[in-house]
Parts: sequence; structure tokens; C-alpha cells
Amino acid sequence: MNDIKERLQNILGEALEQIKAETQDLEQIRVKYLGKKGDLTRVLRGMGSLSAEERPAVGQYANNVRADIEAALEKKKQQLKEYQLQKKLAEEKLDVTMPGEKFEIGHRHPLTLVRRELEDIFLGLGFSIAEGPEVEYDYYNFQALNIPPNHPARDTQDTFYITDKILLRSQTSPVQARVMEKQQPPIRIISPGRVYRSDDVDATHSPLFHQLEGLVVDTGITMGDLKGILELFAKTTFGEETKVRFRPHHFPFTEPSAEVDYSCFACHGKGCRLCKGEGWIEILGAGMVHPKVLSGCGIDPEVYSGFAFGFGIERIAMLKYHIDDMRLLYEDDMRFIGQF
Ligand code: DAH
Repeated sequence: MNDIKERLQNILGEALEQIKAETQDLEQIRVKYLGKKGDLTRVLRGMGSLSAEERPAVGQYANNVRADIEAALEKKKQQLKEYQLQKKLAEEKLDVTMPGEKFEIGHRHPLTLVRRELEDIFLGLGFSIAEGPEVEYDYYNFQALNIPPNHPARDTQDTFYITDKILLRSQTSPVQARVMEKQQPPIRIISPGRVYRSDDVDATHSPLFHQLEGLVVDTGITMGDLKGILELFAKTTFGEETKVRFRPHHFPFTEPSAEVDYSCFACHGKGCRLCKGEGWIEILGAGMVHPKVLSGCGIDPEVYSGFAFGFGIERIAMLKYHIDDMRLLYEDDMRFIGQF
């Protein structure tokens, strides 16, 4: 009997020692001593050799050993839990006095700013916005605008061809034809958007740029209406004192056609660096919609007349903000963009 008691005592001592030293896995200790195949169970199985009087005392003793080990395990479990909590709290300490992360708030690109301003002017005049595809048929980009194959006007608008019938539009003018095909007058639209030309990049050229097209078709529309609108546009964009000059020009889709200059807003016509001493700055192309273009789109030129105009949005932005290199508008350098 003393032999069994001694073994139980050893088991207790050993178990308590191990529990004390363990920092992670208490479960394997529990299994080792108290499990079905554990040390304690094995000793208890040997109780068969004891006499009936001895058994209860040894049984009691064994139960105490079990209870002591269980208590030690539970206590250690709580200690480890507390230790882990403290460790986590120390690691995740939040310093509310630390400087925060700064989020940069963006703003609209100068080209977008200008485009929206221009749109606002024309929306205020009762125009609505029409859109057309950038990947366009040769038909709309040229033929519907009275520019047949081999017409010399194509040379100045060389663009990127996808097939011989499909290209990247070289102007926003094809939107004119698309709108007129779908809608009978009165028509009063603007169409801003990207256009493409196979130009090399320099300070005033880019293979991708933006234009804004205007089209008005109704009964009794005259060149006076065109002048009125372009004058209003000039004064709103460049200042009250801006003057407008029409120079005769040729565009295949308008007749008569004009190139339109605005008096230089920097020197008011005296001549300066901005207007290259001219006193005038070329701003847009315009004219009365050619009868062939009207009839080609299903609008009767005997009943209706119209005017159209088109200009580059980059050019307006560059003049307005005194930007001397177009590339700045596309490079997205924050030192530049951040100024607007
Ligand atoms: N599409 C012409 C160009 O890109 C500009 C233009 C001229 C548009 C006369 C017009 C217009 O609507 O009437 O050079």
C-alpha cells in the first residue's frame, strides 16, 4: 500500500512541477497524468492487489491527488490567460496623441474645369449635350460632312485607322451628322469630347486632344445668330471687352465658313507676346451648315438652315490659365495639377 501511495505522491510532485514550468500546452499535461491511459489511471489499476481495508484509503488519496492536479491546471490556465491578455494590451496600446495619416483630397483636372465652364455657358443658352463615339465610321467623320475620299481636307486631319472604314474621330463634327440623322429641327446641341490626329507631340500638338462642337438648326437661322452666340461666348470666357473677328475660310461642311478670332485678352488688341503681336487670337472654326450636309442627314435645306462651330478645349484652357506647353495637361505632374 505504501508503495502505491509513494507512486501517487511522485506523480503529484512531478505533475505540479511540470504545470509550473509549462507556458503553452496544459492539455498534454492533463492527458499525461489524468487521461484514460494516464499515469494516475495506471496506478489505480494496480489497486487490485490491495486488501479490501486498504482500498478506500488509497482511493481517497488518489482522488485527492487528482483534485490537486486539476486545481493546479485550472489555476495555471487562468494565469496564462491573464498573461496573454496583458501582453496583447501592451502590444496594441493606442497612442491617441500620434499624428494622423493625412489624406490628400483631389480636385478636377484643369481640362475638366474648363470643359464644365464651357458646357455651363451653352447649357445656359438652351443647348443640350450630345455625345458621339470616339471610334467612328469614316462615313460620319468625313463623308457625311461633305469630305469624300481623296478630298484634300483629309490631309490636315490625318488620324488613326482601325480598318479603312473605321477610325478614331479626328474632330467632334461627326456628332453633327449623327444628331441630324436622328432628330428633325429645332436642334441646339454642343458636343465636347476626345479627338485624335496622327500628330507628333510638341508644345501645341498632341495625338489626343479635346474639342467642343456646336450645332444649331432651325427655320430662319442666319450668320447673325452665329455671331451673336460666339460673341456671348467670347465675353463670358475672356471678359466683357473681348471683340470678335470673322475671317473668310473654307470648311467643306459649312458654307460660308469662317475662322473666328477673339481680341487678345492680355493686351486688348495692342499686340503682345501671347497674341504674337497680332492683337487677335484664333479661337475657332465656324460657318453655316452646308445644304449638302443637311440634306444628306435627311433635313430639308429649303426649310431649315443652321450654323456650326468647333474649337479645341486645350487651347481655351492654355489661354485662360497661361499654360505655354500642352504636354503639361497630360503629364499629371502634381506640381502642375495642384495649382488649379
Ligand atoms: N472640325 C473642324 C476642325 O477640327 C472645326 C470646325 C470648323 C467645326 C467649322 C465646325 C465648323 O463645326 O463649322 O478643324
